[in-house]
Amino acid sequence: MDKIQIDGGRRLVGEVTISGAKNAALPLIASSILVNGKSTFTNVPNLMDIVSIQMLLEDLGASCAFDNNTLTVDGGGINKIEAEYELVRKMRASILVLGPLVARFGHAKVSMPGGCAIGARPVNMHLSGLEALGAQITIDHGYIEAKADRLVGNEIYFDIPTVTGTENLMMAAVLAKGSSVLRNAAREPEVVCLANALIEMGAKISGAGTAIITIEGVESLHPARIDVIPDRIEAGTFMVAAAATRGDVLIKGCVPDQIGGIINKLRATGTILEVGENQIRVQGNDIIKSIDIKTQPYPGFPTDMQAQFMAMMTVAKGNSMIHEAIFENRFMHANELLRMGADITISKGNYAMVRGIKRLQAAPVMASDLRASASLVIAGLIAEGTTVISRVYHMDRGYDGIEKKFSSLGADIQRI
Ligand code: EPZ
Repeated sequence: MDKIQIDGGRRLVGEVTISGAKNAALPLIASSILVNGKSTFTNVPNLMDIVSIQMLLEDLGASCAFDNNTLTVDGGGINKIEAEYELVRKMRASILVLGPLVARFGHAKVSMPGGCAIGARPVNMHLSGLEALGAQITIDHGYIEAKADRLVGNEIYFDIPTVTGTENLMMAAVLAKGSSVLRNAAREPEVVCLANALIEMGAKISGAGTAIITIEGVESLHPARIDVIPDRIEAGTFMVAAAATRGDVLIKGCVPDQIGGIINKLRATGTILEVGENQIRVQGNDIIKSIDIKTQPYPGFPTDMQAQFMAMMTVAKGNSMIHEAIFENRFMHANELLRMGADITISKGNYAMVRGIKRLQAAPVMASDLRASASLVIAGLIAEGTTVISRVYHMDRGYDGIEKKFSSLGADIQRI
């Protein structure tokens, strides 16, 4: 079981290039199920989750090849419509094969993804959306079974914006008979990236990136070559790390327009940001002003950045109220930060009052989920002493070579 060891107290200085977005690549790879042919995806990050979804698709009969951040997937060989529990339990995003399988084959059996550390993560909106498109849904012995001779377009209203729910139903609707409208749809850039890819494959979609997405069903799709957008959460993670270490870092290959929520909040802490065409320079300030944060669907402040910001607020001047309004249990990192001397009070499950202290002290800590591990890395970078983080497999799911990137910025960080 790998661990990460960090000697804190160094400023991050230099430049780092952002990898492709995990949360864009996963639905894109699932969309190749819709196509009888070989699709190519470039700028694919080298992550455990990408390996997991390749294994899942190969188990279904597709053939995948990954080389130098380019992934080809041939959906032509798919001869199985069941996504096994053993594969799905490794990665919840496996639910993204449900829509495409029903759309192309009229039948799918996918293991219920189950919860994870940050919450119950129900998929009720995915299922009610598929029922609206005419699928018969049954849940039996932990498996979702969906059947439809052919899906028929319809109106679908999401109670709350769901990212993978929007993506799943967009992929189901593109081959349905007639048109569909997704209302209260998620507006994340990863949803737009998927819509653009499906359009490239011959789908008829308008409104992606807004709350109302209209899809005109077509008979079939053809293979395409798709470029994965940069990972806005990885960019945000390095921006917060640069600010927290009072460093000076140029984040290259990012899309500033997609991280407005993060830029706005970082500026409020007194951090200096120079925003370029596809890069951002972040200069930390000695005094970090404390700010309040509420996580929201895009374009609000992203929940995937909450843990990283909390690490920075532990050493801000003043108190910071953090309201995690998306997931019901996304404060596990707080318990570990407390062990490093942070002053945090959790109330009513999703409010955290962080009282700034002078400095964190290094301690052995444990990662509980992907973004919590990033939070502990940032804490280790600013703490006094040597921090050792265990269970870093969580981090390997979503960050491509993170310790190499941090050490190239001057951090004393190594995998042990
Ligand atoms: C996506 O998860 C991301 N994962 C998550 O990133 C991200 O935190 C989340 O969106 C929110 O931005 C991928 O894209 C692979 P949701 P998703 O459906 O789609 C509730 C990371 O760190 N809900 O938008 O599963 C749900 O419980 C991961 O990279 C229902 O109640 O999130 C949550 O409270 C973590 N019923 C809220 O909606 C449903 O059917 C938003 O969840 C679906 C969701």
